[in-house]
Amino acid sequence: MSLNAEQIGFFKTQGYLLVPGAMDVDLCARVRDEMWAALPDSVALNREDAATHTGPFADEESSDDSILFRQGHRWLNRALGVSETVIDLIYSERISAMAEALLGGPLRQAVVDGSPMGSEGPAWPGGPTDPALANEGARGVYCTLPYGAKAREPDACHTDGHPFQLGVVGLIDDIPEDGGAFKVWPGSHRRLYPTFQLRYDQPRIPYYAHLPSFKGIVHTDAYLEEIEALNETVTPVECWGRAGDIVFWHHRLAHMAGHNYSSVIRQAVLADFWKLELDQYRAAPPDGDMWRDWSGAVQNNDGGYSEAFAARQRLPD
Ligand SMILES: [Fe+2]
Repeated sequence: MSLNAEQIGFFKTQGYLLVPGAMDVDLCARVRDEMWAALPDSVALNREDAATHTGPFADEESSDDSILFRQGHRWLNRALGVSETVIDLIYSERISAMAEALLGGPLRQAVVDGSPMGSEGPAWPGGPTDPALANEGARGVYCTLPYGAKAREPDACHTDGHPFQLGVVGLIDDIPEDGGAFKVWPGSHRRLYPTFQLRYDQPRIPYYAHLPSFKGIVHTDAYLEEIEALNETVTPVECWGRAGDIVFWHHRLAHMAGHNYSSVIRQAVLADFWKLELDQYRAAPPDGDMWRDWSGAVQNNDGGYSEAFAARQRLPD
């Protein structure tokens, strides 16, 4: 088995699982090269000059293209999500086997040179934007520039709107603590799952330019109350680490892109896994056993793990 019972138990109870050293570091380096190569020459951000790495992007260097996005401190390349390098990296045999240990199979397969996330669909002005249509690969390479002198901000968690079952974030460069790494709210998947109306999807209000007051995802009051309670009472876990480290996370786990108070750019690959049956699962009600669509190994696991394991997973006491 690619994941042991303790790893599976921890994931089931806490909704995330750190797996250090799961990705090929040479491929990580190649993805970093491709990320920089895709940056237009007109942008002042320069790989060789760390003094240029602090955000935000100047207005004239920003891009609201959802495929090649640069705005504020965020630098996202979704085109790379369908590159052979990124797909080899994040959908490797090893990582896919771990995803299958959690989900069962068969899993949907990524398509090299397919349509990247954001190729079509509702890129709504002002957000919440969830340009997830036509996603045939990984989500892409997501970077956060150092905040520099920007004032500290509180953490605020959310869940993702588009249908999938299991997320993964892979660090393609070393990221220190407080350096903008992915943050997860342990155990929140079990609290949030029953507050949704649909198992792996959610109702939305379309965006109309002439009727701009309502748009996007419709949340239940129970969900909004739970998110508020999570922000107030649960200490998030920060998934910093070395190039090659990954974290798996449950679709309904509360999370955020961390704030980057370090001096280095946070660089990560984000990708999703789901079973071929997702289209049947997604609009079913979230009643009964929340693991019914997952592997037998997850369903039969009692959710237990040792204190030492929890400490290695950085779970707060
Ligand atoms: Fe998110």
